Amino acid sequence: MALEKINLSFEQGEFAFITGRSGAGKTTLLKLLYAAEHPTHGDVFLEGRSVSRLHPSSVPWLRRNMGIVVQDFRLLPRRTIFENVALPLEVCGVKFSEIRPRVNMTLTRVGLEGMGKRRPGELSGGEQQRVAIARAVVNRPSILLADEPTGNLDHYLSGDIMDLLVGICTDQGATVLVATHDKEQVARHNFREVSLLRGRVHSDREPATEASGDLVALKKPDEESRSTEDEMAAAGTDPKSDDSSTGTQAS
Ligand SMILES: Nc1ncnc2c1ncn2[C@@H]1O[C@H](COP(=O)(O)OP(=O)(O)O)[C@@H](O)[C@H]1O
Ligand SMILES: [Mg+2]
Repeated sequence: MALEKINLSFEQGEFAFITGRSGAGKTTLLKLLYAAEHPTHGDVFLEGRSVSRLHPSSVPWLRRNMGIVVQDFRLLPRRTIFENVALPLEVCGVKFSEIRPRVNMTLTRVGLEGMGKRRPGELSGGEQQRVAIARAVVNRPSILLADEPTGNLDHYLSGDIMDLLVGICTDQGATVLVATHDKEQVARHNFREVSLLRGRVHSDREPATEASGDLVALKKPDEESRSTEDEMAAAGTDPKSDDSSTGTQAS
């Protein structure tokens, strides 16, 4: 069994890392949330609705409000970068006049300004990773699930991408769950860390607070993500105000 005795919940607007060594169950946990896997026991709720009982025809509706960055990107090789990033907007029926500026703004945010005409095969692994992130965030989802989003990036780009994901959380009020084994990035940010070990929750560490005296070695997330926040503010992104939570219960 991939996961056992999991009882977790995440608040709307929360940022959390899902950590653990390879095979611990990180990808499976995210797949349960976007209904790519279904629990054999227990249930998964998103905004109060059971995901595991959803009819397959409702799954695309569930994912409209979600950004998903999968480990192998799944970019469409024959489409341009612009077309890949535009896809979620097209699916949601956004007008073309609105699609162009939103895609271009998102490409700029991930550092791929002017690359829209290229195809995925002409990009490096790290660039493709950023296209996958652009595609996941272009629709301003209220939930963002990212599986090893810095897996193919160097130290500097990893920091930029993680700051971008933090910005999606702080500026849009999105719930952001990042599965990662990038210990450096986890240590750089003071967020909840759910650590999995052989399919179970090994530890669930809340962010350190000043009262706990744990902050000495940690930087507050807003110290480093300010530039992303400024960009988002300039882009006029509205924070979402839904009060809801996301959770899994499996046994
Ligand atoms: N659908 C499945 N059913 C049963 N076991 C699975 C399934 N998918 C993955 N596994 C197993 O579950 C474990 C966790 O896998 P995974 O979630 O991919 O871990 P991680 O992302 O942490 O590396 C692995 O041992 C894997 O082989
Ligand atoms: Mg994985």
